[in-house]
Amino acid sequence: MKFFLDTANLSELKQGAAWGVVDGVTTNPTLIAREGVPMEQQIRDICNIVDGPVSAEVVSTDVEGIVREGTALAAIHPNIVVKAPMTRNGIAAASIMSRKGIRVNVTLCFTVGQALLAAKAGAWCVSPFVGRLDDLGDSGMDLIRDICLVYKNYGFPTQVLAASLRSPLHVVEAAKAGAHIATMPFKVLDALFNHPLTDKGLDQFLKDYAKAFPGESSARQSGSQ
Ligand code: E4P
Repeated sequence: MKFFLDTANLSELKQGAAWGVVDGVTTNPTLIAREGVPMEQQIRDICNIVDGPVSAEVVSTDVEGIVREGTALAAIHPNIVVKAPMTRNGIAAASIMSRKGIRVNVTLCFTVGQALLAAKAGAWCVSPFVGRLDDLGDSGMDLIRDICLVYKNYGFPTQVLAASLRSPLHVVEAAKAGAHIATMPFKVLDALFNHPLTDKGLDQFLKDYAKAFPGESSARQSGSQ
């Protein structure tokens, strides 16, 4: 499973990249607006930090505008994936851009039927929003499972990018469901590291070693040996 960070914040991206576990990035107009830097500049900076697919979303809603904007975004960097909304115009534009060799992420997907349309349009990936469905009392993870099943049935190459993930459990459930990619906020990636038994175990190992070899342990930790 690939891990993408769902953020436009450069500090978060630098930390994720330093851990060596981030395969790509997703942004949306809300996340870009939060950083206060115009889309093109922010996307360029992101591409300089993470070496992998970076989703940049159009804000046009008509076919011509989506294609024009998407083509311009794709020209910023070879790693750009153009995000187009799951609308009639978005799907028409996705078909056009896919035929031109531009990778498209069809976003705001909430049903299997919509995911089928994205695959038919040749999208590089589709983004089903797990958390937003859960918020309505629906099951976001059932949607991931069903899309993975129907894509597999027909051998669609479109990847399932589980989006709107809100917790480490969401990430694990999306992996079990077979999603190709999980995109998550930085705090979810950070939370994946945590377990109290890891902290407790490490603490005990270090204490035991230090007790047996007092001088050696502190010298090793300070890097003097
Ligand atoms: C990613 O592509 C989506 O824009 C994002 O995951 C949405 O997450 P949210 O529902 O937490 O805003």
